[in-house]
Amino acid sequence: MADPKENDVQDLKLVSARIAGLGTALPARVMTNKDFEQIIDTTDEWIVQRTGMRVRHYVGPDQGISEIAVEAGRRALADAGVAPEEVELLILATATPEQPIPSTASIIQPILGVKNAVCFDIAAACSGFIYALQIARQFIATGEVKTAMIIGAEALSRYSDFTDRATCVLFGDGAGAAVLQACEPGDGVLACAWHTDGNYSEIIQMPGGGSKYPPNVKEHIDARLPFIKMRGNEVFKLAVRAFNEVCQEVLDRAGVSIDAVDWFIPHQANQRIISAVGDRLGIPAEKVYVNLEKVGNTSSASIPLAMREAADSGALKRGDLVLMAAFGGGLTWAASLVRW
Ligand code: UT7
Repeated sequence: MADPKENDVQDLKLVSARIAGLGTALPARVMTNKDFEQIIDTTDEWIVQRTGMRVRHYVGPDQGISEIAVEAGRRALADAGVAPEEVELLILATATPEQPIPSTASIIQPILGVKNAVCFDIAAACSGFIYALQIARQFIATGEVKTAMIIGAEALSRYSDFTDRATCVLFGDGAGAAVLQACEPGDGVLACAWHTDGNYSEIIQMPGGGSKYPPNVKEHIDARLPFIKMRGNEVFKLAVRAFNEVCQEVLDRAGVSIDAVDWFIPHQANQRIISAVGDRLGIPAEKVYVNLEKVGNTSSASIPLAMREAADSGALKRGDLVLMAAFGGGLTWAASLVRW
């Protein structure tokens, strides 16, 4: 008699997952390089030359991430033509949840009306959108779930240290959501790769605000623990290498050469990182989508924000082969090759 476990595996009818809809949202408040010139020792010229950034959006004083996450989620549902009740899984990636308990995914579930969805948050910093894609894709591939929603949403301005000119100019707030649905193998997400190396957990971190240094202790605030800290130079070098390696890995997995890729949509960390990675990969700059000058580094929201803009501008067309890649705190890094 055959081993039942073996049969189970053989009986699995693996399907692929496609991005059926994409929605984004940016908060209204705008923070320009000129605004930074008023509060820290910096110049528009330095920021543009070293990062490529000009403008970011910030949530308002009474806002967390739930409003922009809901807005992005509603737009993704409308784009996909999917009813909220059809969503069976909602994964929200964020480094800046609305509150520690409950998950932001739980908070927005009733507002979005995704009442049949299992909802939870994940923490993978800037790689969060691709991590969420990879997780949701597994459930779709096994048939456990037919329709999933993934959201990357951040309010990084809440934890930016406006006394640290090397980090505060980088980050912006925003949200991006995708509705994922089952599709034929060979369509949608063709391959994913994801990695973590906790040995480097201290080079991008927010030490306070969690259980070790809770935010309800004045000394922790005075020591500026609940603020984002980054060793920019180290991160820069590791990011270029990791982006390059994970992109090659995902291309190899899919058996596709870089020449076949129509668009490279990287996490929008820094123009110089993106250019260095593009050069190493051998992809022409015209195929690399960059929108960081308008939004800054929005962590887990960055890829869907760039992708939505690319599609709206007509640059990204249905059927295009898209390579997306991200790198961030953890360290985490990930890439995915998707037929749009
Ligand atoms: O999304 C997660 C992943 N994050 C990243 O990938 C970020 C990676 N790192 C970076 O993007 C870059 O390292 C930064 C943009 C953060 C910094 O750029 P850099 O070219 O690495 O600058 P640096 O840290 O080597 O600093 C060069 C100089 C320093 O002055 P001195 O010591 O040479 O006199 C800094 O104090 O630039 C100074 N500096 C600034 N000057 C004006 C740092 N920040 C600023 C600023 N305005 N905002």
